[in-house]
Amino acid sequence: PRWSRYPWARQLAAAASTLPWAVQAKDKPSKEAKETVEALRFTEVERLLDKQLHVAPGYDAKVLIRWGDPLRPTGPTFDPKNQSEQKQERQFGYNNDFTAFFPLPAGSRNSAHGLLGVNHEYTIPPLMFSGLEMDYLDSVSEEQMRVEQAAHGVSIIEVKRDSEQGWHPVDGTYARRVTATTPILLSGPVAGHERVKTQLDPSGKRVFGTFANCAGGITPWGTYLTCEENIDKYFAQTGEIDPRERDNHKRMGIKPGGQWYSWYKFDRRFNASREPNEPNRFGWIVEIDPYNPQLPPVKRTALGRCKHECATTTLDHNNHVVVYSGDDEYFQYLYRFVSAKPYDPEAPSSHLRLLDEGTLSVAQFDDEGNVRWLPLVHGTGKLTSEHGFDSQADVLIEARRASELIGATPMDRPEDIAVYEKTGEVFVALTKNGKRTDSSAANPRTENHHGHIVRLTPPKHVNGGIKHSADTFKWDIFLLAGDPDAQAHGAKYGGEVSDAGWLSCPDNLAMDPHGRLWITTDGQEDANGAAEGLYATQTHGDAQGVTKCFLRGPLGCEVTGPNFTPDGQTLFLSIQHPGEGSTFDAPATRWPDFDESLPPRPAVLAITKKDDGSFGA
Ligand code: FEO
Ligand code: CA
Ligand code: CA
Repeated sequence: PRWSRYPWARQLAAAASTLPWAVQAKDKPSKEAKETVEALRFTEVERLLDKQLHVAPGYDAKVLIRWGDPLRPTGPTFDPKNQSEQKQERQFGYNNDFTAFFPLPAGSRNSAHGLLGVNHEYTIPPLMFSGLEMDYLDSVSEEQMRVEQAAHGVSIIEVKRDSEQGWHPVDGTYARRVTATTPILLSGPVAGHERVKTQLDPSGKRVFGTFANCAGGITPWGTYLTCEENIDKYFAQTGEIDPRERDNHKRMGIKPGGQWYSWYKFDRRFNASREPNEPNRFGWIVEIDPYNPQLPPVKRTALGRCKHECATTTLDHNNHVVVYSGDDEYFQYLYRFVSAKPYDPEAPSSHLRLLDEGTLSVAQFDDEGNVRWLPLVHGTGKLTSEHGFDSQADVLIEARRASELIGATPMDRPEDIAVYEKTGEVFVALTKNGKRTDSSAANPRTENHHGHIVRLTPPKHVNGGIKHSADTFKWDIFLLAGDPDAQAHGAKYGGEVSDAGWLSCPDNLAMDPHGRLWITTDGQEDANGAAEGLYATQTHGDAQGVTKCFLRGPLGCEVTGPNFTPDGQTLFLSIQHPGEGSTFDAPATRWPDFDESLPPRPAVLAITKKDDGSFGA
């Protein structure tokens, strides 16, 4: 691909290297930032929990595509009682999560036509197949497993907006599915290493599939990053194995029997006792070029292995590529990768190697408002053979153990990350941690059932630009979620929050062009009894840190994957696992079809304002 043709990539590079705005303390937004503050004037969706989706009045939340919809008009129509692997491979997958919009033509800022990349994180057999009970682990057939595998991974679809139909999928040659069995290349320091070789792949360079694809990122050169998160749920370990891999797999959460799936009963690679290296081939960040369907996806091992939530990408003052990622597990860590080479818009052939060389670091928060990035580099500190790290590959495969050894700060489930390009501020959602008994400055509440958002502020370079690659940033708490009127919650917002507007369990984040943060939730149905939702807050100005509820999803769902078009006037949003906790035969909701012959279906929404006004204002 000739990325140098793409002015938006150049604009991003130029913007990141020449931004004149100073980083400001929380209470003193810069004059420039203030000018862009546009109040959030939408009418909030009240606190409720029911079978429907609710969006703020004046907005249209159109179902763009649902599980089972054919990727192309010639594809197989959805018949949930006659589903097959072959059909599912040509249909939209299950449990859509991260979404990313790529304008067409490539390089434009077109906000009415483009490609949409979508993650399919996981499958729920009792909601996908008739006849299964909640206790399904021993009842799923091999054919059903193959349908599940085909429903995982990523979809790339082509979408268009016009005045007649609004947003809709269109036919084209870009449509593509990546599944749990698609051949994928392994690149970077771990490629070809002994610990990733298997019977099916003696080279250690060719993996079959990606799954547990949670959130992700978009690179300046127009590729899609998808993150492998809960990979432990796919493996079992029925017998003894080498203690090193046993401990490594245990740290990732792999257990003796199947957890969510019994794939290991049909496919030996999911039994870590039989293929002890197979789990080491998952838990990576995967790069996909949406504009070139013939190019295989690539797992970028230099970015480390954990339960990656996201891969939020930006450029530092020198055009080095910076990727922030959270490891979404209780007491896990926040990571940052900085590329060895700068991004050069004029050298497109170099782009697809930028994520193979660089420095992975992990965050250590102190009590004085500083966060230090500790490099995960073999041979430094305790990352030596004495501690079981014989090479950089070992450090990357066991990033969790390496991080603990060097003193990283255990966090309250680091989820999604959003960067405000104008100021460089990095917002990190920490969903919750009911298991916390000792607080720390950056995780200030024990038994944290409601979660919080931390803001990191990198230093500004003297010549302009933001030093996202600096060794030390500042940090502060942006908000502590929970009910502000319930003293036991210890919630803290930037000002008065309405009864509809307070939230629990912040999860995915998206920044709009006006510096407003959009926050989805995962877990507040349990934490506070309200439907999961989408909230928005200003990050500067008088109403910063004051959340307002924009949308609520149907029972059992999780709201995920918010992503704006370049003009900020369309928000793509995933409604994941509607009706979770119930079955195909007795679903808690039949959203979005409400057709007695159909189960609830995960779906992607295209949300627009009905009038011509600015989205959110
Ligand atoms: Fe898949 Fe951390 O949510
Ligand atoms: Ca998530
Ligand atoms: Ca989640």
